[in-house]
Amino acid sequence: MKIMKVDNYSELCRTAAAIIIEKVAMADKINLGLATGSTPIGLYCYLVDDHLRNHTSYHHVKTFNLDEYVGLSPDDPNSYHYYMEENLFHYMDLWPENIHLPNGISEQLSAECHQYESLIANHGGIDLQLLGLGRNGHIGFNEPGTSFQSKTHVVDLDDSTRKANSRFFDSIDQVPQQAITMGIDTIFSSKEILLLVSGEGKIEAVKRLLEGEISEDFPASILKNHPNITVIVDSGTIAEI
Ligand code: GLP
Repeated sequence: MKIMKVDNYSELCRTAAAIIIEKVAMADKINLGLATGSTPIGLYCYLVDDHLRNHTSYHHVKTFNLDEYVGLSPDDPNSYHYYMEENLFHYMDLWPENIHLPNGISEQLSAECHQYESLIANHGGIDLQLLGLGRNGHIGFNEPGTSFQSKTHVVDLDDSTRKANSRFFDSIDQVPQQAITMGIDTIFSSKEILLLVSGEGKIEAVKRLLEGEISEDFPASILKNHPNITVIVDSGTIAEI
């Protein structure tokens, strides 16, 4: 793992944005794997800013999001569809048909998972996957105990994850119990991975990632075996490591 230590959250976002922008600008076509949560919000601001000022085009970019809540429609403000629209897609010149997220309101969730996995494979796989890190080591919504061989699947969310994500909802009762997520093998199959870790709340998780053993009890640990991963951590996190 290549570790980049930066001074603050803004620097983390700028650094990650520069990596993505360079790849997008250089590529004839590129499949980006995208993440949600608090961590990438600043990064998306930099991408939007760059697109508006420097006109970096995303016409040749296809996007595939990591996950979506089960039961939330794209126009629900707490869905990841909505988040992506608000924070990124709305401002960019992506073709709508090139934007992909799991359908959390599919009536056939298992078929939806298979289709999403095939969709990624049929497009040649993810070239660059952006990731955040859950406090319990989850990546996407792959909770501790998930098989490293897992493909896109439906997951029962941990109470700790629902609690952590309840800050986006009016109450924890509104946080869905399930989500569709790319599996760990889906994520690991990406040609390149960019993992962003920011803030004091992630100190224990990043310590365990860097110092702990590779185990399904801590999903992110498998990333240590990935041949092309960069981890960007900011001072709120690295002060302790
Ligand atoms: C969420 C998302 C993940 C995200 C992680 C960390 O549950 N499903 O994709 O990376 O938790 O979120 P945050 O960046 O808000 O700490």
